[in-house]
Amino acid sequence: MEIIVQNNNFHIKTINTSYIFTVTAGGHLRHLYYGKKIQNPNFDIITEPFEFALGNSIVSNKEKLFLPENTLLDFAGCGKGDTREGCVIIENSDTSFVNEFLYKTHEIKNDVQQIDGMPYAKDNGIKSLSLIITLEDKLNNITINQYYKIMQDSDVITRFSEIINNGNEIFVHRLMSNMLDINSKDFTVNSLWGRWSNEANLACQTLENQIVIDSKCGTSSSRHNPFFFLKSSDEYIAFNLIYSGNHKAIIEKNSFGKTRVLQGMSDFNFRYPLQNGQKLVSPQAIMCYNKSEQEMQKNMHDFVNNHIVPNNFKEKPRPILINSWEATYFNFNESKLLKLAKEAKELGIELFVLDDGWFGQRNDDTSSLGDWHVNTKKLPNSINGLCDKINKMGMQFGIWIEPEMVNENSQLFKEHPEYAIKGNGDYNLGRNQLILDLSNKDVVQYLKTTFDDLLSSANITYVKWDMNRIFTDMQGKTLKNQGMFFYEYNKGLIELYTHLTTKFPDILFENCASGGNRFDLGMLCFSPQIWASDNTDGAERLKIQKNLLLGYPPSTIGAHVSDKINHQTLRKVPLASRFHISAFGVLGYELNLCDLPKDEKQEIKNQIVYYKKHRQTLQFGFTSAFTTGNVTQFNAIAKDGKTAIVMAMQSLSVPHSPTLTIKLPSGLIEKANYSIKSRVFDLSVKDFGSLINYISPVTIKQDGVLHNAVDKFYKMKSETHEFIATGEQLMNSGFYLPFAFCGTGYNDNVRFFPDFASRIYEINIIE
Ligand code: DGJ
Repeated sequence: MEIIVQNNNFHIKTINTSYIFTVTAGGHLRHLYYGKKIQNPNFDIITEPFEFALGNSIVSNKEKLFLPENTLLDFAGCGKGDTREGCVIIENSDTSFVNEFLYKTHEIKNDVQQIDGMPYAKDNGIKSLSLIITLEDKLNNITINQYYKIMQDSDVITRFSEIINNGNEIFVHRLMSNMLDINSKDFTVNSLWGRWSNEANLACQTLENQIVIDSKCGTSSSRHNPFFFLKSSDEYIAFNLIYSGNHKAIIEKNSFGKTRVLQGMSDFNFRYPLQNGQKLVSPQAIMCYNKSEQEMQKNMHDFVNNHIVPNNFKEKPRPILINSWEATYFNFNESKLLKLAKEAKELGIELFVLDDGWFGQRNDDTSSLGDWHVNTKKLPNSINGLCDKINKMGMQFGIWIEPEMVNENSQLFKEHPEYAIKGNGDYNLGRNQLILDLSNKDVVQYLKTTFDDLLSSANITYVKWDMNRIFTDMQGKTLKNQGMFFYEYNKGLIELYTHLTTKFPDILFENCASGGNRFDLGMLCFSPQIWASDNTDGAERLKIQKNLLLGYPPSTIGAHVSDKINHQTLRKVPLASRFHISAFGVLGYELNLCDLPKDEKQEIKNQIVYYKKHRQTLQFGFTSAFTTGNVTQFNAIAKDGKTAIVMAMQSLSVPHSPTLTIKLPSGLIEKANYSIKSRVFDLSVKDFGSLINYISPVTIKQDGVLHNAVDKFYKMKSETHEFIATGEQLMNSGFYLPFAFCGTGYNDNVRFFPDFASRIYEINIIE
């Protein structure tokens, strides 16, 4: 890691990459290169030559042949001839919108930490270097600082902006965090989009003109996740933003074949006033140059694990939980919960999570948000009493909250209607609820006190922080300008989260916003794991988790095994597969365990033993996933390369398809020998339907008494598949799975593989 300044050239070196820009004679920041590391670059040959001006393009009068719209830049203002989107839009004190920011000075500092009111990537004891470039618009009396930061253990470059007004009042309409210009390349832009229960779809769009990835929901949202990457024939450039509010990325290819990436807060409804001497900071953006998808994933995962999640939870094994939501919804009392907890404990579960419904009169979703006192009809011994009993069983206790919300039908709303965001009176509801105005300091203070009390009232070691609607009718009654609303709301949210996580540093927070509506680095700075989607259907989860893994490590992805008939899709996915996919995230269960038949309980017990044995690899190993045809493969490889878990699951079965093979990605030790072993689990004879009559001496009626009786007393096993191979072979040829059932015969070596079936293998080095 190094930042070298040579004449006017700045060279930021990470472990494997170089980022180079220069200051031109006229003071413009001109971008030269971002890519694999070049130790001693010749700056001249990476500076695009111009001999004459081009047609009707503008030439800067500050320097000869500086063509703003055809030059790679490191910072772009507005209205001086660069026809691309710029980093800032400012309404100057004379109401004009023209700004040219030129180099004034620079500074290199060690270990710059905090950003005012923003979540940020923490050094966590790793050395870091920051380059601060100060730019100035002399005419309008405005200064902008660009903070570039690198850390010794990473290829990620972080960047944010700070704007300071030195003149009369101005209004900032846009302040981007990061800008990257790239010359003449063909890129696809890859990003995650979705909606409730159908999150993290991967869009791969060819960049022709302009692509915008943004959220105007007030949260980062499942509509468009802030993570995205640009892909050319041989490179993957990944981007993300450490922020949970509205975001925007503009990826533009201009008429001269130059690509510009801009990243930051959204400029939607944004108009931030700055008086003389006031400043505004943007969130921190991250970017990383990689040569392959695998390298990109690894860089993203390591960065999140090492610099984003709270230090206390760095590589800390996450507990296996039971969540009451899909088990009981609102319909529970203490004894029902205790039965569920007892069952969970017997199966090996470590944490009991009480979801929605424990407070006020909350028997459905029409009331009580805001009234954070226990419903004593349901829980006569209060939270403390329930928690004690669960602790005595040997389990941790966690609780659901939705701090930012209020129902009209609540005590809080009656007492403080002014706490809710209601526009000018004719407001919309989402899930029957309103959002509390966190841009109001009194509201934030009120929430701090309320949740301080709740979280210190019992031995709570986990909190699920939910948020179930998007913003409308935006108006912060205490703000002087509504263009500040989203920014100030997020500052309030960050203040509240910072307060609670500082006061309760050992509580594991899991963020949730109807599932994946706040799956972002801003939230991960406080909550090391996030409930990825309300959709717990194993088949849907394949896609959701696979795509999230492109930018986020498995330790951040909450993944639960839910009921046989899925509550979101009504699909039936085998229990083994529901587990296999959930195992590639932070495992939990979310179903009524008490009602399960004995054999399913036993299967869950086995699953939990398996997960515990491999938890470190599954949560913190290098994890990737890819789909070929109808099969998706997930791989988790321990950091030392000595163990790995690999899983293959198919969507709909395709008759007589080629025998499935599994090939490991790199990460194993080439020369080492490994033992490979499939996880063996029970199969039900009933899944063969009336085919049972092929072997049965008596006729068995499908689903009849006899069929059920045979199923109860006789369990078939999935095939045992064990062998030894070198790392080299596993990563090159891979291996065939056993022959799959194809309607012509069955024996112990045949792989029973219907729709949504899967197999998981453990791979252990032989020392
Ligand atoms: C939405 C969440 O995503 C669910 O998991 C559950 O907590 C419900 N809210 C409770 O209302």
